[in-house]
Amino acid sequence: MEPIDTLSYGHNSGRGQTIFLPLLKSHYLLLWSFCTIFLPSAHAALRNVVIMEKVEIFDTPTLRTTANITQHSPASVPAVFVEMVALQDISQLKINSVFTVRSRTGELQAALYNSTLGLCEFLEHPFRNRLLQIIQLELIRHSNIPTKCPMRAGLYYIRNVSFARARIPSFLPASYFRVDVNLLKTKPWQTVLETRWYGKLIKK
Ligand SMILES: *[C@@H]1O[C@H](CO)[C@@H](O)[C@H](O)[C@H]1NC(C)=O
Ligand SMILES: *[C@@H]1O[C@H](CO)[C@@H](O)[C@H](O)[C@H]1NC(C)=O
Ligand SMILES: *[C@@H]1O[C@H](CO)[C@@H](O)[C@H](O)[C@H]1NC(C)=O
Repeated sequence: MEPIDTLSYGHNSGRGQTIFLPLLKSHYLLLWSFCTIFLPSAHAALRNVVIMEKVEIFDTPTLRTTANITQHSPASVPAVFVEMVALQDISQLKINSVFTVRSRTGELQAALYNSTLGLCEFLEHPFRNRLLQIIQLELIRHSNIPTKCPMRAGLYYIRNVSFARARIPSFLPASYFRVDVNLLKTKPWQTVLETRWYGKLIKK
């Protein structure tokens, strides 16, 4: 099934703008939590398959980062490659993750999920953040990012992760999305790394 234009989920405000119903948004979050907690392998509804499309990186000298999305053959699913060079230990950071549904043309709709927590807290308790947990489960065999603090200065990589088998809650509609994963310094707030991952969910 092809992704449908997500504009159709919104409510037309009359000024040519599409807004999300707050009810819809909280429904999503509630259902998402419910499904990931209580129904880890829910019955055989159509599965959501992730197809990655594009990545944008805004890095800083603290964590020099490059990334690409490569499709090895027409039959394979595009895969993610990332390399990060940490000049210093980076444990004292916060990690912010956002899931936004977007329209086919790329306009962003409401963020359905936006959460910030300490990097160490996340590494040690990934289940506290549903979105990052889905990502982390896919990285385990394809990355040398530590599963505990401290995260020392050094070279980190993610290689050839397609997310094709990621467990995306099946109640989410076929849609285009953007996932932001950002690293932030506090006092003062400063972005160390900003990454934006564009893709789509298709039903299979
Ligand atoms: C980009 O993808 C290719 C594989 O197609 C890989 O060899 C290369 O290292 C990647 N670059 C980065 C920065 O990950
Ligand atoms: C996520 O929430 C923070 C504040 O809680 C806000 O500053 C940020 O702009 C939000 N991100 C997005 C993409 O909406
Ligand atoms: C990436 O994984 C695919 C199979 O999932 C494999 O065919 C391909 O050779 C791998 N590429 C790299 C650069 O590791």
